[in-house]
Amino acid sequence: MIKKAVIPAAGLGTRFLPATKAQPKEMLPIIDTPTIQYVVQECVDSGIEDILIISGKGKRSIEDHFDRNIELESRIQEKEDEAIYNQLRHIENMANIHFIRQKELNGLGDAIYHARFHCGNEPFAVLLGDTIIDSVIPVTQQLIDSYEQYQQTVIAVETVPWEKVSRYGIVGGTKLSDKILQLTELIEKPDRDKAPSNLAIAGRYILTPEIFPALEKTQRGKGNEIQLTDALRLMMKTESIVATQIEGKRYDIGNKLDFLKTTVEFALRRKEFSKPFEQFLRETIKRLDEQVK
Ligand code: UTP
Repeated sequence: MIKKAVIPAAGLGTRFLPATKAQPKEMLPIIDTPTIQYVVQECVDSGIEDILIISGKGKRSIEDHFDRNIELESRIQEKEDEAIYNQLRHIENMANIHFIRQKELNGLGDAIYHARFHCGNEPFAVLLGDTIIDSVIPVTQQLIDSYEQYQQTVIAVETVPWEKVSRYGIVGGTKLSDKILQLTELIEKPDRDKAPSNLAIAGRYILTPEIFPALEKTQRGKGNEIQLTDALRLMMKTESIVATQIEGKRYDIGNKLDFLKTTVEFALRRKEFSKPFEQFLRETIKRLDEQVK
């Protein structure tokens, strides 16, 4: 049983400056909901209610978002806006959320190392705080299913175009089933001709506690940071790791263009916006087409 999740959310978000100068990128909203709330919802939908958020400098608004705001609630009650009131109460009751601060930004591996006392000897899920994955079955649930079958560390992977493999962590291995690979290779940003596959790491993991000694032994790598991928590669020498090809669509909110695309796609699905927003998009495209003519 996987009962705990860790959400690293301490990073600087330099790709989204200047918006992230004084606010966490994990709080950037897709329409009206902060990115990290979608991530917490994925945990809850996967049966996990104990969540450790790795926080840091300038990230207080994440704590405030999941805390109770009685003054705001009573103001909304006075306005008799029941729908919003219920949403506010839902957010503060979603899960048992704990916070720990990563004082120095030493990378994703170091962020996860901060969870060692919280997770102890149990396997746990990791969900990147700036990545939403839209799917029918929550992706963390898909990974938990793989963990229950194989009792090994599980990495979520997705197919990416071959010309983009050099932007991702890429896995290689032998097929155990249609969607599952036994890992033999884990390469960070390989050249296209060196990539063992076009399956990229997708920002969700189930890690066993063996990751902590591996992280201790991991030397600083790219960007002078402790990289999770390096620790996993080290761990692979003694432990087996599987990769699960996920069913879902990944949105990296930390990237400005992806953020825009996500907003458009999610807005088209929202009942109150879909019609007028679709009309706006059609008119915009028509105007663009006319300009080209
Ligand atoms: P990223 O590498 O996307 O985050 O890490 P970043 O460093 O903030 O991004 P840029 O490149 O500067 O824009 C993925 C997740 O891991 C967290 C981030 O907050 C993000 O949610 N992270 C990253 C940490 O918690 N600590 C770190 O030291 C690095």
